[in-house]
Amino acid sequence: MINAKQVAAAKAIEYIQNGMVVGLGTGSTAYWAIEYAGAKVKEGLDIRAIATSVQTETLAKGMGIPIISFADTDHIDITIDGADEVDAHLQLIKGGGGALVREKIVAAVSNFYIIIVDETKLVTTLGKFKLPVEILRFGHEITMRHLKELGTEPGLRMTDNKIFITDNGNYIVDCSFGMITDPPGLHEKINGITGVVDNGLFINKADLVIAGDDKGNTRILKRELKK
Ligand code: 5RP
Repeated sequence: MINAKQVAAAKAIEYIQNGMVVGLGTGSTAYWAIEYAGAKVKEGLDIRAIATSVQTETLAKGMGIPIISFADTDHIDITIDGADEVDAHLQLIKGGGGALVREKIVAAVSNFYIIIVDETKLVTTLGKFKLPVEILRFGHEITMRHLKELGTEPGLRMTDNKIFITDNGNYIVDCSFGMITDPPGLHEKINGITGVVDNGLFINKADLVIAGDDKGNTRILKRELKK
């Protein structure tokens, strides 16, 4: 069977041009974009990249993609990243892979932000996927209590029976808010809590969403509203 994530990544790579600074996302869909970009670099494509996680940096370096930092550039020409959910207005839930803060910093300075997903991630309203929230370790019990007051049962993310630690040294709590009818409002409320670093709602960030399916087709959704 054709891999829908791979299909979306192959299409996204067509937007990368010689000389660009490219933001590289994190996760199993972004993985394919990094693979394809690496193959093009081997063929002579001249790009420099900013990685959104340690995992992506290691992967990209292994493929021969030159990695730079924000000390070397103040902008990114194009970023290709995955998402956990995409709604009808191209609002996103991200952070399933735990890289949401670096991903959001990269998104903020990207002139063109492409999201690649398999088509099952397209939803009418966000909220089936639990919203990841990155919080400081210090006082996390208090921060979680404040999140609870917003009407969720925050669950501390675990991996292999250990608390998951982000690349920034913080915790992630996964929060169900039911259907999220007002993503910008919820985003503001969560980020207003002291101890929250950021949450996985990406509001008005995506310029283009490329959804692949397992027949090899892509569907392209473009932003209508101004950023
Ligand atoms: C990582 C992310 C990922 O882009 C998101 O979780 C999607 O991952 P995948 O492509 O593996 O389904 O936000 O923080």
